Amino acid sequence: MKINSAEFEISNSRADQCPKSNIPEYAFIGRSNVGKSSLINMLTQRKGLAMTSSTPGKTMLINHFRINDEWYLVDLPGYGYAKRSKKDQEKLQNIISFYVLEREQLTNLFVLIDSRLKPQKIDLEFIEWLGENGVPFSIIFTKADKNKKGELRKNVETFLDTLREQWEELPPHFITSSESRLGREELLNYIDNINKS
Ligand code: GTP
Ligand code: MG
Repeated sequence: MKINSAEFEISNSRADQCPKSNIPEYAFIGRSNVGKSSLINMLTQRKGLAMTSSTPGKTMLINHFRINDEWYLVDLPGYGYAKRSKKDQEKLQNIISFYVLEREQLTNLFVLIDSRLKPQKIDLEFIEWLGENGVPFSIIFTKADKNKKGELRKNVETFLDTLREQWEELPPHFITSSESRLGREELLNYIDNINKS
């Protein structure tokens, strides 16, 4: 799929204040610093469209980006940033769960997983919660470029094996790098196919 236009539309803290238009939307969720905002910039090839930072906790709101005037990419705040106050963590958790559970236009949620790490409890619990609530999701393993040779496959397989313990069928999964643009075409084609179906 070719990206002809990618425009920031609105930020807000409540799912019921998100854009009213009925076009499909695809949202990125995952731990703080996993690379959600960077991936939006990589996919759209617009540096600085979504704000990124090497310090976790940058994205604090729901951000809608209108793509080709046909669908939205949505950047969400990260979960699990321990240095935030309990009150702030709870606030963000509410923003995320209200959006994920109530947003009717949400067509597919991409859960981003850092490809360098062993399976993290918080990610596994989040995925379990999605399953319990019947939220359609896929998995994206990020930061592929940061792995040593051989580590990437191993880490991805370990994560998928852990999921296999709970799921009969694995969700679709992708491997990306916002540095090398690995996975860009595959991900855009996946979205394109859903949009057309
Ligand atoms: P929050 O908004 O805080 O939840 O973080 P985020 O998930 O949006 O992460 P963000 O895109 O801001 O990226 C966090 C850091 O990781 C930044 O320093 C990025 O440059 C870096 N980063 C993101 N993706 C990649 C990648 O694929 N490869 C490499 N090498 N660095 C990446
Ligand atoms: Mg972000």
